[in-house]
Amino acid sequence: MNPILTTAWKAARKAGQMMHRASSNLNNIKIDNKAANDFVSDVDREAERIIVSTIQEVYPQHAILSEEAGQLGNIHAEYQWIIDPLDGTTNYLHGHKQYAISIALLHKGTLAEALVYAPEHNDLYVASRGQGALLNDKRIRVSSRIDLLRSLIATGFPVVDQSMMNTYLAILKDVLAKTAGARREGSAALDLCNVACGRVDGFFEFNLKPWDVAGGALIVQEAGGIVTDMQGEQAWLDSGDIVAANPKILAQLLQIFAPHLAV
Ligand code: IPD
Ligand code: CA
Ligand code: CA
Repeated sequence: MNPILTTAWKAARKAGQMMHRASSNLNNIKIDNKAANDFVSDVDREAERIIVSTIQEVYPQHAILSEEAGQLGNIHAEYQWIIDPLDGTTNYLHGHKQYAISIALLHKGTLAEALVYAPEHNDLYVASRGQGALLNDKRIRVSSRIDLLRSLIATGFPVVDQSMMNTYLAILKDVLAKTAGARREGSAALDLCNVACGRVDGFFEFNLKPWDVAGGALIVQEAGGIVTDMQGEQAWLDSGDIVAANPKILAQLLQIFAPHLAV
């Protein structure tokens, strides 16, 4: 691992140990509602404190965008970290093991480095632009499946901002009819990593935030996958509407979406 990923890994490992320890006493965790269906706990905040301080110690001149703390440092800085200290908070608070830490680094606005760590599975996904993607030190690739009818698709429900709910449900109905099935596992970062290592053939979700997707998206790209928004364009980091898949499945998913998104 290069020095940037080594620092990210040091931060994620410390935060992951804390999260795992705290998960043995879920009743003691203080939980606040940010909005309906949107929770933040002491564990999210403590994980963020650990990750941000570890990165700032080594790279004090870098800016950071982190879910709970917001923008730290100059938004126009050459290097900008994007951090989700706990992706899958709802799972975590229920003792469900599908949750992760996501850390990405933009260099001059382009995703350069990514790390996603799932403490309960001890799975570490990393990618550096142009260098491929690894899961626990082994090279990963997106699936080679081309037949949509045999494909397994991950997704997330739009429960926080429900403005897209009807469109989403119509799309999901179509996806269920035209694929082998869909999964909603509750961590967008891990959904993307599952695309990257071929456990699912594609993923789509509306209204995500940059910290949900920045890390996982680079890992998909470096594993040979494609990431777009619902129209097949590159606005996904800003809009939060994202599709990720191997190239053949992505094209077929976009064809399913198109009639639902036409105005
Ligand atoms: C959530 C997870 C979930 C997705 C939500 C996100 P959080 O992140 O990624 O899979 O469906 O939209 O908000 O709140 O647990 O960090
Ligand atoms: Ca998240
Ligand atoms: Ca989070």
